[in-house]
Amino acid sequence: MSTKGTVQGVIANMVTLKVDGPVAQNEICYIETGGDKLMSEVIKVVGENVFVQVFESTRGLKVGAPAEFTGHMLEVTLGPGMLSHNFDGLQNDLDKMTGVFLKRGEYTYPLDNDRLWKFEPIVKVGDVVRASDWLGKVEENFQPLKIMAPFQLEGEYTVKKIAAEGEYRIIDEIAVLENAKGDTVSVNMIQKWPVKVAMTNYREKPRPFKLLETGVRSIDTLNPIVEGGTGFIPGPFGTGKTVLQHAISKQAEADIVVIAACGERANEVVEIFTEFPELDDPHTGRKLMERTIIIANTSNMPVAAREASVYTAMAISEYYRSMGLRVLLMADSTSRWAQALREMSNRMEELPGPDAFPMDISSIIANFYGRAGYVYLNNGQPGSITFIGTVSPAGGNLKEPVTENTKKVARCFYALEQERADRKRYPAINPIDSYSKYLDYPEFEKYITDRINGEWTGKVNELKTRLLRGKEIAEQINILGDDGVPVDYHVTFWKSELIDFIVLQQDAFDEVDAVTPMERQETIVDRVIDICHTEFKFDTFLEVIDYFKKVINLCKQMNYQPFESDKYFEYEKQLKALIDERKTA
Ligand SMILES: Nc1ncnc2c1ncn2[C@@H]1O[C@H](COP(=O)(O)OP(=O)(O)OP(=O)(O)O)[C@@H](O)[C@H]1O
Ligand SMILES: [Mg+2]
Repeated sequence: MSTKGTVQGVIANMVTLKVDGPVAQNEICYIETGGDKLMSEVIKVVGENVFVQVFESTRGLKVGAPAEFTGHMLEVTLGPGMLSHNFDGLQNDLDKMTGVFLKRGEYTYPLDNDRLWKFEPIVKVGDVVRASDWLGKVEENFQPLKIMAPFQLEGEYTVKKIAAEGEYRIIDEIAVLENAKGDTVSVNMIQKWPVKVAMTNYREKPRPFKLLETGVRSIDTLNPIVEGGTGFIPGPFGTGKTVLQHAISKQAEADIVVIAACGERANEVVEIFTEFPELDDPHTGRKLMERTIIIANTSNMPVAAREASVYTAMAISEYYRSMGLRVLLMADSTSRWAQALREMSNRMEELPGPDAFPMDISSIIANFYGRAGYVYLNNGQPGSITFIGTVSPAGGNLKEPVTENTKKVARCFYALEQERADRKRYPAINPIDSYSKYLDYPEFEKYITDRINGEWTGKVNELKTRLLRGKEIAEQINILGDDGVPVDYHVTFWKSELIDFIVLQQDAFDEVDAVTPMERQETIVDRVIDICHTEFKFDTFLEVIDYFKKVINLCKQMNYQPFESDKYFEYEKQLKALIDERKTA
């Protein structure tokens, strides 16, 4: 017998119910109104009074309306057939929608029960398995997916039956498992998982250390992120958070990309739907969408669905990580998610924390980031979720609670700066305030030494020092005037400008410049450092400015040419001639 409830009060999408039986925190219930069943989630239980957030508009909902509890939490349905799909925060398949939005109370099934999959067994009869162990595989869009033992399984089970190689639907039985007590479990290709519970079906979660190439020079060269690492991109309105995140998701070395678009503006969501299907994967040449899943909130959904969407995206990512894949998870923006939490907490009249966010906002954020990571699965294979979230701090104030709390847990910090964005210095990542804590890991240092060379870190540190020095000199020139500082100062300043223009600035909309593979980043850094180490002869600061503008222009032209193409070498030759012109040492 399921628990029933009756609506006692409605405040926007928060509803209070009186219930006749047991109810669990985060349990899902359906409230009936005018023939619609509205999906809702329990957020607080006080005796027989239950607070729920409704994932739909509560228009017309009246006191006395009946509700029925389901006995389970908000869960995702997982299986082959999710790649290249667009879901909303409740995992409704947006491609199955009629019209632009789902009607209230309408939910769609996220998978396809009829499609046939070519299944190959991995285990054999008599093998002993545990939850999440790989039983077989299917291929989807050239990704090797694993069919796993049910995540909820407790203890050891013996394989009694395993399907032979062949074509099956996801609802067909592919295995029968039995435990020591003789309980049997019939297994198909579908898994269910409560989105707010972390999947911990791995043996070990070591510190991540492998460079994850993103093709963005400000990240890879200056403040790299690693496979299984965490990062966040705070930036005021319009400074390029979404463009940067899209650039990373297009280029990064990942098997699966999950994008949670919980932005405010519907056009952002539309852009991603129209742009992504057209793009090619720079690594494989196949369509990017083949490895991508987009979780987007249609703007007619209340904030509660936005809160759910980041969890849905994380649970889907964990599913693929359990298969030993490298997953890149992007959330844009996590501030909208936090705002959803704030609205609910305010409606419940909870004692508010800083800026009216819930008191436990810091642990909510920490728990979420904590679900990312590099893991060794029970069979010893690695898998990873790299998570990058954007934050839109109100008024660009980095002291606001969401930014501050995210800063405590995310290991990479890519601060987008209004001033850089205003000057069109894209990506507007501030090179001085941003950081990557992975640079302090000895295992990362070793990885870089093996992968690139032992001098790399020193060179990158030199770039950073020069950028900082350049900034100081710019301030002095500002105060004292161009004539008020020695000519040398101008040279040092322009060398830092060269770093800014050639290493940091990157055109996300240029076919070549948008993605810089690591090998090319090394060449760029070497060239820039070489020029920085060269001594030139100048009599006036005007000569300095004029000369470095030419140098920068040539280096920039090189960045726009295909690597080591004829044009590229031509500009390189011109650059060499220009440098020889003024070089003294
Ligand atoms: N790397 C880049 N190269 C070229 N142009 C860029 C780049 N990054 C951002 N821009 C420009 O800045 C504009 C705003 O970027 P974007 O939409 O990503 O900002 P945002 O921070 O996500 O804004 P919002 O706060 O509204 O979500 C883009 O439309 C584009 O014109
Ligand atoms: Mg944006």
